[in-house]
Amino acid sequence: MSLRRLDQILSSCGYCTRSEARFWLRGGRVTVDGQPASKPDAKADPTKVLVDGKPIEAPDGLLAIYHKPAGLVCSRDEREGDSIYGALPALWSERNPPVTSIGRLDKDTTGLLFITDVGDLVQRWTSPKHKVPKVYEVAVDRDLPAGLAELFAAGTLRLEDEDKPCLPAKLKIIGPREARLELIEGKFHQVKRMFGSQGCNVVRLHRSRFGDLDLTGLAEGEWRLVEVPAGFSR
Ligand code: URA
Repeated sequence: MSLRRLDQILSSCGYCTRSEARFWLRGGRVTVDGQPASKPDAKADPTKVLVDGKPIEAPDGLLAIYHKPAGLVCSRDEREGDSIYGALPALWSERNPPVTSIGRLDKDTTGLLFITDVGDLVQRWTSPKHKVPKVYEVAVDRDLPAGLAELFAAGTLRLEDEDKPCLPAKLKIIGPREARLELIEGKFHQVKRMFGSQGCNVVRLHRSRFGDLDLTGLAEGEWRLVEVPAGFSR
């Protein structure tokens, strides 16, 4: 674990600004290896630092998997309604940089959302170049037309206002009005637009998997920290 200045550790993890750190340190709220720390420029292993007796959460980069409920937007713009950021720990939004979601889910979509402050991960996992699969459970308002799996797999479906067709996607029919769709890209409202282009309105949408991870053990509204993959840090 690399050593970092205490004021930098405290500010990057959301406790205070760098200039406020000296007051936190003077107040005796911070210990390193069990000893009260007082100098903002002293270097410490972040895993040995306690604030108010508690270890610092994810000091070298935070990655969480969140089971997003319906009714929350993935935006910080209050005009758009209740936000996932209001449902997650407030300290996460105070981190520097603050956490963000890796891609977005619509307000009415439920399911797996990654939350992170590791910018390179956002780039990596949202870029179609890296082909990270995302799996959606879809319910529609009428019977699915014949030939839909072949159409989505062909990589020829061009959605309105898009220059390029959708990349080939895997569709598994689960029932007359239910299907599972695997995408490796994330155009704006892509799932709804793909089904909509074939006359079907999506009435329920849930992301069940992103890359290697699913929501096993996480009820709606719950989150847990996961390890930042090797080679990524903020
Ligand atoms: N595609 C959509 O249309 N909506 C989502 O929330 C996610 C993917």
